[in-house]
Amino acid sequence: MPFSLPRWIAHRGGGALAPENTLAGIRLAARMGFRAVEFDVMLSAEGTPVLIHDETLERTTNGHGLVCQTADRELFALDAGNGERIPHFVEAAGLCRDLGLLANVEIKPAVGYERATAETVVRLAADIWRSAPELVLLSSFVPESLVIARDLAPELRRSLLFEVVPADWHSTFLQLRATALHCDFVTLTDVVLVEAAAHGVPVLCYTVDAPSTAVALLARGVSGFFTDRLDLVADQARC
Ligand code: G3P
Ligand code: MG
Repeated sequence: MPFSLPRWIAHRGGGALAPENTLAGIRLAARMGFRAVEFDVMLSAEGTPVLIHDETLERTTNGHGLVCQTADRELFALDAGNGERIPHFVEAAGLCRDLGLLANVEIKPAVGYERATAETVVRLAADIWRSAPELVLLSSFVPESLVIARDLAPELRRSLLFEVVPADWHSTFLQLRATALHCDFVTLTDVVLVEAAAHGVPVLCYTVDAPSTAVALLARGVSGFFTDRLDLVADQARC
């Protein structure tokens, strides 16, 4: 499958313009012309994959405690901002597919749930995007998640994801048969960019909220960006 990704990816659904990791955020990104969204997926106490970033509920909802210790009934009754619910992964995936959005599914396991989270998310993703695998891109900070993704659903594209790209990133990239490298632009070095260019590996950076930062990164060889400021780049997001 030839690699192609939109240059701009809405971060955590609708970035800063909607409650993060919600269906409202995904719908907003689509309305604003974005062609791709990123969201984070973790398991509830019952093993249900849901969209949430933190292992704890306090920052983004009116709940308390650990996501991995919260039952579905309680989790889905919480307010994730502006009356939005925490979405089930299947709902969010179906919405992206119906809207024609590329979904970057970040597998975000709570500590101790690495294998279970990846297996659940990858199996569901393979089924949901069976007829449109080009509309999903799996990523994770946890290498084990990507090993599981490679082995369970080799047809789905995978991206390595790092806060700081390690020196041996390219051997991991080859082992995982990945298609792109995602990383924090703050720590990204030209050494990595030169190496990525030499191997034809696209580099996508998070979280780029200033158009001037994007211009500078493009000049250094970066291919795409995750952004929270959908409003500042919406005119460029359609391409
Ligand atoms: O996948 C890019 C970005 O989402 C990684 O950081 O912490 O926002 O999930 P975080
Ligand atoms: Mg994320």
